[in-house]
Amino acid sequence: MILVLDFGGQYAQLIARRVRECRVYSELIPYDTPVEEILAREPEGIILSGGPNSVYGEGAPRVDRRLFELGTPTLGICYGMQLMALEMGGKVGAVQIREYGRSDLHVKEHGLLFDGTPDDQVTWTSHGDAIFAVPEGFSVTAETPSVSIIAFEEPERGYFGVQFHPEVRHTEYGMEILKNFLFEACGCNPDWTPVNIITDAAEKIKEQVGDAKAICGLSGGVDSSTAAMLVHRAIGDNLTCVFVDHGLLRQNEAEQVVEAFGKNSDVPLIHVDARDRFVSKLEGVADPEAKRKIIGEEFIRTFEEEAGKIAEDATFLVQGTLYSDVIESGTRDAARIKSHHNVGGLPEVMDLDLVEPLRNLFKDEVRVVAAELGMPERMVWRQPFPGPGLAIRIIGDVTAERLEILRKADFVLQDEIRNAGLYRELWQSFAVLPAIHSVGVMGDSRTYAYPIVIRAVTSDDAMTADWARLPYDLLERVSNRIINEVSGVNRVTLDITSKPPGTIEWE
Ligand code: XMP
Repeated sequence: MILVLDFGGQYAQLIARRVRECRVYSELIPYDTPVEEILAREPEGIILSGGPNSVYGEGAPRVDRRLFELGTPTLGICYGMQLMALEMGGKVGAVQIREYGRSDLHVKEHGLLFDGTPDDQVTWTSHGDAIFAVPEGFSVTAETPSVSIIAFEEPERGYFGVQFHPEVRHTEYGMEILKNFLFEACGCNPDWTPVNIITDAAEKIKEQVGDAKAICGLSGGVDSSTAAMLVHRAIGDNLTCVFVDHGLLRQNEAEQVVEAFGKNSDVPLIHVDARDRFVSKLEGVADPEAKRKIIGEEFIRTFEEEAGKIAEDATFLVQGTLYSDVIESGTRDAARIKSHHNVGGLPEVMDLDLVEPLRNLFKDEVRVVAAELGMPERMVWRQPFPGPGLAIRIIGDVTAERLEILRKADFVLQDEIRNAGLYRELWQSFAVLPAIHSVGVMGDSRTYAYPIVIRAVTSDDAMTADWARLPYDLLERVSNRIINEVSGVNRVTLDITSKPPGTIEWE
């Protein structure tokens, strides 16, 4: 296992992901984790991430000196390298010309890290500081035109540093460099896969839950479904799943969830049809945050009622929390743009202990586990869908009629996108219904009806997104079909806004 110490660099999470891609388990931990705690985890290696600070800057994150006396192989990246240099007796200072983006690296001595890579290679850098003198015993292994010490190492004691980002795809030989560190310096074996958690999780869940009862709020998404299946494997019918159909789902979605779940597992499942309840509560509400609040509260109430009936003595709540959620809430303070109510986020109200079997996995890793558990392809690859569902894709009041129109239009879009083989490539693709009317002409008559907006984006993590360049002929088919098949719509438009400045959803 490799521990990545997070100094606040924008790529810190990516380092952990890349290490896992090399089939070595890796976790991101705060830079100030006590050395005792680090040792107790028995890592085979440590990576110090980059960060926005200058090592001499006020309040710059520092670490316990003993970290550099452990003898555990350590790789410093950017800020991490500078810190290593400073703590071990080298010199760091500001550079004349800051380097950002692409730079051409020349290998002076291949040593351990650059073994098997060419003399000249492209790397991705971002720094305003550089190392001017290496600590005793270290050798300089690479340079760039403006920085003479871009990489150094002391393989005897196991210390390595690079002042570029090996984890970023633009760094041509980044993966080779990481692998040299993992396999040659740390002696790791490439034998970890996300599937390992299937057996590990069973043990851990049994230990945590024992003979007690657990409930799980199922949304139909891959995360909650996978979590439920893992827990069911461990504790059997002491788990009950509750699926609340709030009437804001896409076409046939409720049926699909119930069927897919019922067919592929024998997890006890309660299907609550609460469609009328939600739609009537939303009557006359146009404000996005008000919609979210109503749906969130109503959801909790419905869930409580149902869960209370069937599992009065439940003491655990199963949630599909992912590693990115854990990292986000643990290490970052993001400005609040929207209050994201996640289906299943009920612990405070219900006073239940959480079981979160996926909290160490990234989304793509969960998909691997889901497939291994035999989940149908449709569920494994389902695009993210917001908890408040179609309510935040109708811009204006939510009515039964508008829901029906949006559902039909969205169905056409999904159908065409799947047929074009683009579904998996897109982070999300969906239809939006702004509750306005525009004039059109159909046959010989004037129409006055709703427009539909097509929204399709590519993204890695929903933090940023780009609008997808869908092929024109696909757009044409979608437009024709929506106008012909969905009455109440006379115009189809395409949203070509990235995030930022837009958000993925319209509300
Ligand atoms: P935005 O629209 O903020 O969305 O770019 C980022 C991601 O979050 C999803 N999203 C939500 N998910 N409850 C959810 O569970 C919400 O209220 C909510 N709002 C947005 C959105 O679909 C995208 O994946």
